[in-house]
Amino acid sequence: MSMIFKVNLFSLLIDLTSACELTELAVANHSQRVAYIALTIGRILGLSEKELENLVIASLLHDIGISSSREKLKIADLNVDGQEIIPHCVRGAELLKRSTILAEFSPIVAAHHDAWTDQTDIYSPIIHLSDRAEVLIDKSSYILWQHHSVIERIERLSGTIFDPELVAVLKHLAAKSSFWLDLTSEQYKKVIAEFTSDQFTYLTFNELESIAAIYAEIIDDKSRFTAEHSLGVSRMALALGTKVGFSDDELRLLKIAALLHDLGKLAVPDEILEYPGRLDHKQLMIMQQHPYYTYHLLDSLGPEAEPIRNWAAFHHEKLDGSGYPFGLNHTQLDTGARIMAVADITQALREDRPYRDKLSQQTINQILMTQVRSGKIDEEITHLAIEIMTSQSNLD
Ligand SMILES: [Fe+2]
Ligand SMILES: [Fe+2]
Ligand SMILES: [Fe+2]
Repeated sequence: MSMIFKVNLFSLLIDLTSACELTELAVANHSQRVAYIALTIGRILGLSEKELENLVIASLLHDIGISSSREKLKIADLNVDGQEIIPHCVRGAELLKRSTILAEFSPIVAAHHDAWTDQTDIYSPIIHLSDRAEVLIDKSSYILWQHHSVIERIERLSGTIFDPELVAVLKHLAAKSSFWLDLTSEQYKKVIAEFTSDQFTYLTFNELESIAAIYAEIIDDKSRFTAEHSLGVSRMALALGTKVGFSDDELRLLKIAALLHDLGKLAVPDEILEYPGRLDHKQLMIMQQHPYYTYHLLDSLGPEAEPIRNWAAFHHEKLDGSGYPFGLNHTQLDTGARIMAVADITQALREDRPYRDKLSQQTINQILMTQVRSGKIDEEITHLAIEIMTSQSNLD
């Protein structure tokens, strides 16, 4: 029987969305705050537990279609043109459709900026209102200096953009300053955590892989240079895993690890990922944080998925201990981790970079063998990778 993963889907989505929001201070924890407002409104409306769970998940996912920091900031502005809002709703809905477990949230995300009269589900009007209220808060000023004006601006749109019944609920909540202080003092995180802490979902390989594939696409889309990187690494890792005789379960763990290996890049600013040249020392230090984030972003996957987290996060470690961020050595790097390191390097060398075009097969082989000779990567796996690339180029 194939493996089943016991996962707190809420924790996983909280981690993934906060990683996406980490690079811009103005939108930090936006989705979690929206989830808090939505949950509070939903409770007053008397939604069932199941409906509240759906509301929280949809709130966490609502902006999943935003890829660049630029777009994030634009959408955080209430005066933004309607035309500029639509793409992230469409894209978010498209992404979610691909996951068996998240597909039911696709229509909600599609509608999350529509006027209430066009919204047909119970969740999107709540998310829309919560989202705009959150966006109206000036994070650089005291909340109790501004909460009246936030409500005033929302009220002006009541009946046209927002459902008047929901605006009335928000207004009722807004009368208590604790509602606003919870939202700006990090208390909201505790409210969400209490609601979600013991909620576990059992995911099959396919379900976990479908979530991984969505995030792989978000990661790859952050830069045109890495447009196919995670996919490419997963292909090479699978080919290598097959050659070394991995079992079916191991191969599937390896594939998911490869799809998620650069997850931590969500927390790297676009300017660095897209920098048109070689990175300077400071930029490089920021870039090199990414496998550390990958490791901790995958913590919430639980013990069954430990190989996924480790293989994904150890892809910049070297056998001689000179890699980052953990400085592990050959005694700590198992076959899966070694495969991931080789697959990542080979795929990167086959892609264009801002400062160079993709390299020829001969140059790639030379670079790989230099790394083998200096004790950085696994010799046998490297030979297998060269073999795989040679047979692929013979097919072209
Ligand atoms: Fe949005
Ligand atoms: Fe939003
Ligand atoms: Fe990486």
